[in-house]
Amino acid sequence: MSEQRPWWERDADVCWHPYTQHGLEPSFLPVARAEGAWLELADGTRMLDAVSSWWACLHGHGHPRLVAALSAQAATLDHVLFAGCTHEPAVRLAERLAAAAPPGLTRTFFSDDGSTAVEVALKACYTACRRRRHGARNVFVALEGAYHGDTFGAMAVGDPDPFFESFGDLLFEVRHVAAEVEAIRATLDELGDRACALILEPIVQGAAGMRSVPPEVVQAARQACDKHGAFLIADEVMTGFGRTGTLFACEQAGIAPDAMCLSKGLTGGMLPLAVTLFNDAIFEAFRSERADRMFFHGHTYTGHALGCAVALASLDVVEAEGTPQRLEAVGARIEGALVASGTAARGSLRRFGGITALEFAAEDEGYLSNLGARLKAACRNESPDVLLRPLGNVLYAMPPACTSGAECDLIAARMAQVVASALD
Ligand SMILES: Cc1ncc(COP(=O)(O)O)c(C=O)c1O
Repeated sequence: MSEQRPWWERDADVCWHPYTQHGLEPSFLPVARAEGAWLELADGTRMLDAVSSWWACLHGHGHPRLVAALSAQAATLDHVLFAGCTHEPAVRLAERLAAAAPPGLTRTFFSDDGSTAVEVALKACYTACRRRRHGARNVFVALEGAYHGDTFGAMAVGDPDPFFESFGDLLFEVRHVAAEVEAIRATLDELGDRACALILEPIVQGAAGMRSVPPEVVQAARQACDKHGAFLIADEVMTGFGRTGTLFACEQAGIAPDAMCLSKGLTGGMLPLAVTLFNDAIFEAFRSERADRMFFHGHTYTGHALGCAVALASLDVVEAEGTPQRLEAVGARIEGALVASGTAARGSLRRFGGITALEFAAEDEGYLSNLGARLKAACRNESPDVLLRPLGNVLYAMPPACTSGAECDLIAARMAQVVASALD
C-alpha cells in the first residue's frame, strides 16, 4: 500500500516538479532539514547547498536572526490584506529599501516572487508610458539570453530559446538585442518613441549561464533610455543583496534604473516575497483623484507581514555580517581553488562576486546540450556531498555567505571531479 512507502517514494505518485522531465528523473533528493550551508537528507546524508536553493538562500539556512524574526512576527500579525490596510513591517521594509537602493527608487510595490515583481514592473511602465509620454509606446526591449521568470509578461521579455518557444504566438512584441553597447543604442534609436522600457539583468544574466552584462552595457542602456524617454527596468531578482559583491549590481555601473525587481535574497531565501521599486515619475502617473487611474494589480499575499519581518531581519544581517564582502570572499576562494587544480583551464572561467562559473565548449551549447546532460549526470554521480546543478554547458557555484573556506575548497574539488568525469 502506498501509505506504507516512505514519503520520498510517494512523491512520484503525486508531485509535479518544476523544470523537471519526469520521464528522465524518476526520483528526487529527500531533504529533511537544513542548517547553514548544509542540507540533510532523510537518511542523514549531508549535502552542501552550492546553488543556494535556486539562488535564494543568502546567509545560510535557518539563520537564527531570521528564525527569531519569523516566530515573533507570526505571534503578532501573520497576514492582513494590503489594500485599505497597512502594517509596520511593510512600512519599515519599504523605508529601508528606499534608503539602500540606487537613488530615486522611493516607492515599493510588494508581490510574491521574481516573476510577479517583473510583471508589476512591465505593467506599471507600460501604463505610465501611455499616460505620461503619449504616443504608441508599446515595444519592450530586452537582452538576448534574458530570463525574467515564467509568467506571461516575464516570458515575453525572456529569450524564447529554449524555455518559451512554444508560447511564442501568445506573447507581446519584444525586441531582443545583444548585450552590446552599439546594439542597444541602435535598437533604441530605431524604435525612438515606440520604446516603452528596456529590461535587463545588470552585470550577470543568471539562467543564460552566468553570462556577463558589463557595466558599460548597463550604462549604455541607461543613456539610450534617457535619450528616447523609455524606462529602464533592472531585474535584480538574482543579483540583489550582495550576490555580485556589491549590495545591488547596478552600483557597479553607477546608474539608477526607473524600476528595480527584487526577490530571492530579499528574505535571505526563507520566505517567498518580492518587491518592485519605482521612482516618483512612475508612481505619480497613477496617483489621481480618479479611481479608474489606479494600478489595477495585486495579489492575495501582497506585503505579507511574515515575509516583510524576515526581510527586515535579513537586511540587518546583511549590514551586521557584511554579506556582499563575505560572498565576494566565497567566490574568490572557489575561483582560486579551480585555478590551482587546473580545472579552470578546461573551460572559460568567470566570476561575479559570489558566483563562479565555468563554461565549456560544446557542439550544441545551451540549456539542453548533450554536454549539459553529461554534466548533470556527473553532478549526481561524482558529487554526493555537494549539490550542484549545471545550466546546460555551464557549471557554476553560488553558495550562501556562511560557506567556510574549507567548504569552498570542497565545492571546488567536487566541481573538478564533475568536470573530469563529464569531459574525459
Ligand atoms: C533574473 C531573474 N528574474 C526573475 C526570476 C523569476 O523569479 P521566480 O522564480 O521567483 O519567479 C528569476 C529566477 O531565477 C531570475 O533569475
